[in-house]
Parts: sequence; C-alpha cells; structure tokens
Amino acid sequence: MRDLRQLPTDRVLVSPSVLASDFGALAAEIGRAGSAGADVIHLDVMDGCFVPNISFGPPVIKSVRAASDLVFDTHLMIEHPLKYAVPFAKAGADHLTFHLECADPTAEVIEAIRQAGCTVGISLKPATPAEAVFPWLDRIDLVLVMTVEPGFGGQSFMADQMPKVAAIKREIRRRGLHIQLEADGGIDEKTVIPTAANGANLIVAGTSVFAHPAGLAEGIARLHAATAMLDSNL
Ligand code: DX5
Ligand code: ZN
Repeated sequence: MRDLRQLPTDRVLVSPSVLASDFGALAAEIGRAGSAGADVIHLDVMDGCFVPNISFGPPVIKSVRAASDLVFDTHLMIEHPLKYAVPFAKAGADHLTFHLECADPTAEVIEAIRQAGCTVGISLKPATPAEAVFPWLDRIDLVLVMTVEPGFGGQSFMADQMPKVAAIKREIRRRGLHIQLEADGGIDEKTVIPTAANGANLIVAGTSVFAHPAGLAEGIARLHAATAMLDSNL
C-alpha cells in the first residue's frame, strides 16, 4: 500500500528527484530508481508562474504511475494548488506537497488534498521562517524545507537553512508528531550530513544520484552511508 504515513521518520529515506533524470525515458528512470534503492519518488511540478520553470503535470504522472509501487512524493511548485489536488490524485500522486507561499489559502488547500485522498505536505522557500509552518503541523504529514530557491535542479546547497530544519524538528518532537521532515536542493553525500544531523530524514536528491559517476544505486547508497551514524539522532 502506497501510504507515506507508513514510512518511518526516524531513519534516512531517499527521494530521488526525477527532474535530473532522462524525461525521454521517464517511466524507465522511475523504475530504475526503485531498483536502485529509492524509498519514494520525488516528482517536481512547476507551473512557470510560482517558479520560473515548467516541468510536467497530471497526464505525465498518470503515464508513469505503473512504473513503480513507491509513493509518488509530488512537490507542487505552483501558484494555485487548490484546483489541482483532484487531477493530481486521479493521476496517481499519493502525496502532495504545496508551498506555504502560494496564492491559495492554506487551510483550504490542506482540506482539498485530504478530500482528494492524498497525504499532505507544506514546503517553505528559503526566506520563509520555520515558525510559519507551526500553526499547520497538527494537520499535515510532511514538511519540506527548500535548501535552494525552488525552480531548478543542480543548484548549490544553502547551509543557512539548517537552523530552520533544526527548529522544525524540535517542534515536531515537542508535539510528538509523526511527520516526515524533508529537505530538497543541492543535497549530495557531503551536504546530506548537516541536513540529517539537523533532523531532516527524507532526503531529496536529483543531480547527486541521477548524475552520479558511479551510477544511480551508488549515488543513493552513498547518501545512506554518509548518514548511517546519524539515524539514531532522528
Ligand atoms: C528544485 C526541486 C528539486 C530539485 C533537486 O526546485 O524542487 O527537487 O530537482 O535537484 P538537485 O538535487 O539537483 O538540487
Ligand atoms: Zn522538489
């Protein structure tokens, strides 16, 4: 059963971002990520409005759904998630993360995603403080801290986001919640260490796994190896 809530929050999980894969063979790339040790699959949806880039939408997700039994961890970098919750759910997205900075009212988006049958995540851009997500923590399954400005793969990791990760982790712990704390952008075998040490357990990685010189499986394995000693902190 593809349910994000069934996944542990106390060990490092890897969510390969297909943005760095070969779109011409997307279904095969997703299947390959699963065989290489991915825990979930990260799908970056961009509307050219919330971010200055355009990727793909529900029809593409529908066409690749059969390629994997893993949770589709769908990251909506779009201005109006409210009207797209149902189309993404119908296409086979299991989990929808939207941005707190989007144009739609947060409570309504959360409700729409639940009604559509998906788990819910909220993402924060680098300039948004940790406290902005605190009022919503009891109602969501995942918090995504961006460690780059959203829009493009292959950017440099922003270490200044680490205090935010730590602050959100503290609050999740204080309330005793089962929430995936995800980090996304510029994460490789080096930057994953502070990311996990500060409490993020769900690691998005695009370039560092799909373009790893030793291959995808090795890229994923190195993220686990780099953080093996940190699982006990999570
Ligand atoms: C950026 C996307 C990321 C991106 C990560 O806006 O949300 O998921 O694909 O790619 P890397 O790991 O290359 O920074
Ligand atoms: Zn993403």
